[in-house]
Amino acid sequence: MTDRSTRTFVALAATVALLLPVAGINAAQKKKPAPKKPAPVKKADPKAGMALFASEGCKTCHKTKDHADGGAMADLSKVGAEHTAAQLTAFIKNPAAKAPAMPAFKGSPDALANIVAYLLTQK
Ligand code: HEC
Repeated sequence: MTDRSTRTFVALAATVALLLPVAGINAAQKKKPAPKKPAPVKKADPKAGMALFASEGCKTCHKTKDHADGGAMADLSKVGAEHTAAQLTAFIKNPAAKAPAMPAFKGSPDALANIVAYLLTQK
C-alpha cells in the first residue's frame, strides 16, 4: 500500500469504527421492549355493582337491602359482614360446591369486582 492509500484506509476504518457502535446502540435501543405502564388501578364501584346485581340475574334469587323485592333463595342483606371480598369473589365464580342451585357468574372480572364491592356494603 502506498502512503496515501494507507491513510485513506485508516481514515475509512476509523469512520467505520466510530459509526458501528452508534448503530449498535441504536439497534439495542430499538429491541428493548417499551417500559410497561402499570395497568390503571380501577376501583370497584358498588353503585355499578348494585345495578349489575339486578341486570345479571342475582336479584331473581336474592334480596338485599336495596332489592327488597328480590328472590327468597338467600337474603344477602348481611353478606358483607359475613364474608371477605376474596371469599365472595371465589364463591360467586364457583358456587357449585356450596350452592348447587346458583349459576356460576360468567361476566367480566370488572363486573364481578363491582358486584362484590356492592355486596360488601350489605352489613
Ligand atoms: C337461581 C338462583 C340464584 C341466582 C340466579 C343467584 N344465586 Fe346466589 N345463591 C343461590 C342459592 C340457592 C344460594 C345458597 C343459599 C344458602 O346456602 O342459604 C346462594 C348463595 C349466594 C351467596 C352466599 C350467601 C352466604 O351467606 O353465604 C352469595 C354471596 C350469592 N349467592 C351471590 C349471588 C350473586 C352475586 C349472584 C348473581 C351474579 C347470584 N348469587 C345469583 C341462588 C342463586
